[in-house]
Amino acid sequence: MPRAVVFLVFGTLTIAILLVPWPPPASNGHEREILVRARQYAFAPGVIRVSRGERITLVLEAEDVTHGLYLDGYAVDMVAVPGRPARATFVADWPGKFRVRCSKICGSLHPFMLGELIVEPNT
Ligand code: CUA
Repeated sequence: MPRAVVFLVFGTLTIAILLVPWPPPASNGHEREILVRARQYAFAPGVIRVSRGERITLVLEAEDVTHGLYLDGYAVDMVAVPGRPARATFVADWPGKFRVRCSKICGSLHPFMLGELIVEPNT
């Protein structure tokens, strides 16, 4: 094999390995289920507070019409129909504030249906 090809193959493999997060996101062992109620045009709670490393299951309940919940930064997207709650689980491994948005058009004020996830660093 020509030397350039060998370098290319190993270079690509090295970059691929570096891009794979390792160790994989690990939960700190704390698991929590948080119920979020959605109605025109707010989430309750509006601010969700968790600790870094917690494994969080969000349960989205739509109280009036169909609503969605999109969580910036965590690629969580769920849609709840009234009477059919949606669930999504993620590990809160990045500290900071993340925008929560309704991802399903639910009425005239849909764009303003917002919330926040605060992931507090472990102390
Ligand atoms: Cu709720 Cu859009």
